[in-house]
Amino acid sequence: MTEQIEIENRISDLLEQLTLKEKFKLLASHGRRRIYTTDPINRLKIPSFKMTDGPLGASFHSSGLKKNTRFPAPIGLAATWNKDLTREVGEAMGEEVRAIGRHMILAPAMNIHRTPLCGRTFEYFSEDPFLTKEIALHLLKGIQSKGIGGCLKHYVANNQETDRASCSAEIDERTLHEIYLRAFRALVKEGDPWAVMAAYNKINGVYACANKDLLRDLLFEKWNFNGIVMTDWFSTRKDQTTEDCINAGLSLEMPWTFKYKIKALQKAYDAGGFDDETLDDLVRRNLRVMMLTGAISNSELPKGARNTTHHQNLARRAAEEGMVLLKNKRGLLPLDFESIDKIALLGPNLKKKFGGFLKGGSSGVKPPYEITPFAGMKEKCKGKIKIVNDASQADLAIVFAGLDNSKGGDSEFQDRTSLNLPADQIALINQTIATNPNTIVVLIAGSPLAMDVWLDKVPVVLQAWYPGMEGGRAIANILFGDANPSGKLPLTFPKKLSDSPAHSTGDPRNFPGDEEKRVFYDEGIFVGYRWFDEKNIEPLFPFGFGKSYTTFEFGDVHPTKSNLRQIDDMLSIEVSITNTGDLEGAEVVQVYAHDFQSSVKRPPRELVGFEKVHLRRGESKSVHILIKAEDLAFYDVTKHDWTVEPGDFKFLIGNSSRDIHLDADFSFG
Ligand code: BGC
Repeated sequence: MTEQIEIENRISDLLEQLTLKEKFKLLASHGRRRIYTTDPINRLKIPSFKMTDGPLGASFHSSGLKKNTRFPAPIGLAATWNKDLTREVGEAMGEEVRAIGRHMILAPAMNIHRTPLCGRTFEYFSEDPFLTKEIALHLLKGIQSKGIGGCLKHYVANNQETDRASCSAEIDERTLHEIYLRAFRALVKEGDPWAVMAAYNKINGVYACANKDLLRDLLFEKWNFNGIVMTDWFSTRKDQTTEDCINAGLSLEMPWTFKYKIKALQKAYDAGGFDDETLDDLVRRNLRVMMLTGAISNSELPKGARNTTHHQNLARRAAEEGMVLLKNKRGLLPLDFESIDKIALLGPNLKKKFGGFLKGGSSGVKPPYEITPFAGMKEKCKGKIKIVNDASQADLAIVFAGLDNSKGGDSEFQDRTSLNLPADQIALINQTIATNPNTIVVLIAGSPLAMDVWLDKVPVVLQAWYPGMEGGRAIANILFGDANPSGKLPLTFPKKLSDSPAHSTGDPRNFPGDEEKRVFYDEGIFVGYRWFDEKNIEPLFPFGFGKSYTTFEFGDVHPTKSNLRQIDDMLSIEVSITNTGDLEGAEVVQVYAHDFQSSVKRPPRELVGFEKVHLRRGESKSVHILIKAEDLAFYDVTKHDWTVEPGDFKFLIGNSSRDIHLDADFSFG
């Protein structure tokens, strides 16, 4: 508290000393060459504020071309469903950012997976706002615990890349709050993020950067956010005025000035377009974060660390925990050295490296080394199993298929055009399975792929996402059972594109937009599994799904209360679970809520809590899952606020959204 007061006093002092022009200078980056830093004001010892891109680690292009640890893509991190591990990854990222001399990482990216075709699906966490919130919150806490700023992006509804700079997401009020804003709100409330990045797109016709309703009225006034609001890069637009942006609450224009040129600001100020109080509030926000991150500091800052053994191990552990075993017929996995002499390794992703300069867009992290699947398998098989490339001559074949984390695959600036694997890869899988029935498909991709034409024939499928620089080792560890898979899908895998909510009508008004570039979110709150459950559509693999090499049995469930009275009440659910198989492993206990009666239509089930639990063979544990009444709420458009209506609810407890083992009744009010 005293530290906070001290910071505010120091800012007040600075504000008194700053000239009007210097205040203007602090609202933008004016240097054309340094596009991730702001200008210093040497007279007052205010240095440049320096940022780096995320969210897979500190990117190459914005860290002075430094090679940093490449962590698994956020979708893979979300697939771990492991909050503590995510926090550790955040801490490691914070240390790396510190080590390259930056003050903020442009992460977490927390847009919702509305369509599986979105080019940045790999950068975002989930189709579900609760899972997004839990994972993003722990990542943010980890980052900021190192005195490095996190930046929540892209606020809000940048859910596609097609026309991202000109399209308007047309979203009804309830959906906007309940699905797209919910995780942002929760992080502001629970995680005190130091910055928010306003998206490129419009929301209901108004660009995010000059959106007074969403910035000043909601973010500042209702949620009490007191950090920086920055533009996405070059995201201010012709049809906004300088005073629109200032009055809306935009405190930093990046990377160059358009609206916040000194002359433009002076002109708008002289014409009475904004007042001193508004200006000072924005400058105060920027200075506050400079102090919190130590950019303005009187004391020596910690040095940070990059690519340490700890970070390497963490990158591998996170990759292992995020991998999702989708299918394992005949118990083919884990592989057994004793019964294999020859293994055939095939596929376009076998020797591919995914980290590179701007690969996949602004998130491109170039690591100091990258263990490809081939390198990982070679290391594992050395002296024990011969690697060949003819599947017909091998005991087992593994096809490393999927996409590239770059143009044409999963990448910023574009959306995918289809759910399918490239045709040559489908042919390769079919050919391989025709010659060797023990064919395993490892999918390295940052978004869902259709599998209808080959899934039935193939006994094993492992979803590895983009697993980071230790990925090849992590894959080999999973395949040979050194690590037991425990990842769960953070989004529904549809059988076909038209099963997916944004694509169900096939009408461009829903995706990618009509002639006026409006994208109508007609599916409303029914995004992801909410849609599949409501419409009774069988997914290819459901939200929350993932197999293990061991088996778990759910025992009893005991909520600490059967009634919650107020929206800020909580209860804990105790679930007993036993590892009944032969191997040590981890399970994710997932709690969904069902509302029996409501004045508005609600999804059949919504995720309200989860915990990941590690169990030795034969071990039983009681897992305690905290449930907050506010997570049972819906957004009531008559009150313009969140509400829980009195009545009966049920908790559904299981290990996927479609595999429910226990339930418990409770009531609210
Ligand atoms: C992306 C942001 C990124 C920024 C800076 C934009 O293209 O949308 O996520 O942080 O560039 O590189």
